[in-house]
Amino acid sequence: MDKPSRSTLATEWNLESGRVFLNHGSFGATPTSVRGEQRRWQDIMEAEPVRFFEDMMPTVLQDVRQKLADFLQCDSNDLALVENATSGVNTVMRSLEFAEGDEILVPDHAYQACRNTIDFVAQRWGAKVVTVPLPFPIEGPHVVMDAMLGAVTDRTVLAMIDTVTSPTGLRMPFEELTAELEGRGVSVLLDAAHGIGMVPLNLDELGASYTTSNCHKWLCAPKGSAFLHVRKDKQADIHPLTISHGMTFPLGDTTRFRHEFDWTGTRDMSAHCALPTAIDHVGGLLEGGWPAIMQHNHDLAIRGRNILCEALGLTPPCPDEMVTCIATLILPEQSEGGGIPLHEPDPLHVVLSEKYGIQVPVWSWPSPRGRYFRISAQLYNSEEEYRYLAWALQQELA
Ligand SMILES: Cc1ncc(COP(=O)(O)O)c(C=O)c1O
Repeated sequence: MDKPSRSTLATEWNLESGRVFLNHGSFGATPTSVRGEQRRWQDIMEAEPVRFFEDMMPTVLQDVRQKLADFLQCDSNDLALVENATSGVNTVMRSLEFAEGDEILVPDHAYQACRNTIDFVAQRWGAKVVTVPLPFPIEGPHVVMDAMLGAVTDRTVLAMIDTVTSPTGLRMPFEELTAELEGRGVSVLLDAAHGIGMVPLNLDELGASYTTSNCHKWLCAPKGSAFLHVRKDKQADIHPLTISHGMTFPLGDTTRFRHEFDWTGTRDMSAHCALPTAIDHVGGLLEGGWPAIMQHNHDLAIRGRNILCEALGLTPPCPDEMVTCIATLILPEQSEGGGIPLHEPDPLHVVLSEKYGIQVPVWSWPSPRGRYFRISAQLYNSEEEYRYLAWALQQELA
C-alpha cells in the first residue's frame, strides 16, 4: 500500500515528510508560525536581557495569563505558569501536608510519572495511596463514577483524576466526578495533561482544587508551556517547586501566590509568551474556532478507530462518548509480545516505525493488563493514515 497523504492543513506544520504521524498525544506538534513567535520572543529577550526580565516580562506574562484565563474561564490571578503537567502535579503534592493514614485516590489508568509523584509524597507522610481499578474495555462513564466514589472513605483527602487517561485514552466524567468529590470534602487534583485544546474546560465552574494542563499537546503551543490553576481558598498552601524572591517581596496590591509563581528564577519563558499566538493562530485554522477543532479531531479519532476495528476485527473498548482526540485499542491476546515493561519499546512499535514509517504508541499496561495501541487525531491527519496503519497491522499481526 502506498504511503498516505496528510490533510491539506498539514502545511501549517513542519512534520517530517514520509512519516505517518499518529501520535500527537505524547508530545503534541507545534505549527511553524507558533514556533516563529516563540523565536521572536527569544530574540527580544536576548537583544536586551535586563529590560526584558525586569521591565517587560511582568506585563507580558500578565497578558499571557489573561489570554489563558479567557480561554479557560477563570481568574488570571489563579493561574501559575509551569513547564509541564508533571511539574504541576509535583507543585501541588510537594506543597501539601498529610496526616498518617490519610487516603489519596488514584485510578489505575493514571499516568505513571504522576502516580510516582503521589507514591513518593505519600510515603514521606505515611499517607495511603488507594488505587481504584477501572475496567478496560469499559461500559461507560457511570462505571468510573461508581468505582471512584465507592472508594471514598472518611480518611480520603485527595483524589488525582485525569481529564483523559493516557494509556487507555478515556474521557473521564471529570466534571461530575469533581463536583461529587469536592462536595464530599475530597480535594481534586485534575491531571488535565490531555486537557486544554482537547476538551472544553471551564475552570471556575468545574471547581477543582487544583488543575494542571499541558499547552504543548492539544493547544499546539511550544514545549515547556503548561499551567497550574489553584482555587483561591487553596492558594496559601501551594508554593512553587523553586522558592525564590517571591516569598519575601512586598505584597503591594497582589497576592503571595502571584509573587511566588511569577518569579521562580531566571528561565526561558518564550514558550509561554507564544501562547496567545497558539490560541489565535491554531484556533483560526477552522471556521468555528476551538470548539470546531475539538469536534473535528474527535470525529476523526472515531473514524480512525472504526477503520481499525473493522480491518482488524477489534471491538471498540469504550463508547464513543468516552473518546476525545485519542483512541486506544486492545491488541488481540495472541499477538506476540506484550508484558513488556513501560520503559522498553514494544517490538510492534519499532516495526511500525522502522518498516512502515508510522509513529504510533504500542504498550503493555499492567492494570488493567493488556497490550494497547493508541491513535491520535489532529488537524494535519487524514483518514487515509488510519487505513495505512490498519493495513500495516494486518501484515504484522497475520
Ligand atoms: C495523563 C497525563 N498526565 C501527565 C502527563 C505528563 O506530561 P509531561 O511529561 O508534559 O509533564 C502526560 C503526558 O503524556 C499524560 O498523558
